[in-house]
Amino acid sequence: MNFPFKPFAHLQFTQALNTTIQYNLSDSCAESLSVQQLLDLETDQSFLKQPLTYASIQGDERLREEIAVATSHQYQSMHVSLYSGVQEAIFCALNAILTDGGEVIAIKPCYPSLVEICHQLGAKLHIIEPKFEQQWNLELSDFTQFINTKTRLIILNSPHNPTGMVIDDSIQYALIEASVKNSYTVLLDEVSVWTHPQTPNAKLLPNNHKTDTLKNILRLGVMSKSLGFPGIRIGWAVTQNAKLQARMLEIKSYLSICCSRTDEQFARIAFKHRQKILEHNNQIVEDNKKLFNSFVKKHQRVLAWHTPKAGLLSLLRIEQRLTPTKFSTELAQKYQLLLLPSQLFGLDGPYYRLGLGKSNFVDALNVFEKAMILAK
Ligand SMILES: Cc1ncc(COP(=O)(O)O)c(C=O)c1O
Repeated sequence: MNFPFKPFAHLQFTQALNTTIQYNLSDSCAESLSVQQLLDLETDQSFLKQPLTYASIQGDERLREEIAVATSHQYQSMHVSLYSGVQEAIFCALNAILTDGGEVIAIKPCYPSLVEICHQLGAKLHIIEPKFEQQWNLELSDFTQFINTKTRLIILNSPHNPTGMVIDDSIQYALIEASVKNSYTVLLDEVSVWTHPQTPNAKLLPNNHKTDTLKNILRLGVMSKSLGFPGIRIGWAVTQNAKLQARMLEIKSYLSICCSRTDEQFARIAFKHRQKILEHNNQIVEDNKKLFNSFVKKHQRVLAWHTPKAGLLSLLRIEQRLTPTKFSTELAQKYQLLLLPSQLFGLDGPYYRLGLGKSNFVDALNVFEKAMILAK
């Protein structure tokens, strides 16, 4: 029997480092505003008079409405449920969908919960592995080869953590359309979907799904990544599948029951001003991409990467003498610099997760350059 709640390797690794990190080169979040900076964006501060009672289980109606509008015109507030981080929504979704095990098609490397929980629930996993040599890109046939009558779930995360790959619209459409015949759910983990070089309101994902497919789609989002608010612990699940939505909320009632009311209010303000926040955050990412391309050119004998089309993350290949785990440990303990080896996300080899969202990126690169020179 599988041991439930096996510890997550990436969290175990960072906790065991037992050192203060000054530069996080693997952060998956955009730059964060302070509480004061967020409050300064909003003139209507009437929410400060609200009593700090429990929130409702499904979550604040006005925030759910904002999320529905930002997701697609095909959704209304009733289709949105709030969770304490999208991590909680993932747990509820997988427990609701994989009641009888079934088969799951997923990508690895990945954000660990997306496959670990399926595995621990006894599902049979078909894993698709993007390759550096193919710019991490995937084909439709990578997925369709595994679809059969036992398929319960296809998990798509685009822009992808940790490769930075974007799954083509045509692939997403085709997999969603095929769900009608084979009756599986397509889980779209869209946590960094608003981080891309186009206008902040443009969406990377197709938004006009056919009405007969809408019940098979579960879209997940969160405050932490593109918006840069990991300290506002709010995630969401959007679906027109009322049965799945209700079951997920029943499972949530075993966990947080409801979100923090203060977090809901902060999230509402951030959502109201998201265009300004995203413009600022996305500019930092674009500037860091340019900077990093020059950095890779300068060190091309040891470094290689593929510039991500969207999202906050990419994988960096480093040729050096230590094992990735030893190298990362040394960077953390000698230089207070965090650069996570990709094996923590399910990919062996000389790869490391690179986060592009932070405004101190240039300082972190200076420290990293010094560490690389000394490690030779
Ligand atoms: C792809 C992906 N999904 C979900 C999550 C969970 O986000 P949160 O911890 O903010 O709930 C993360 C966090 O890193 C992630 O990268």
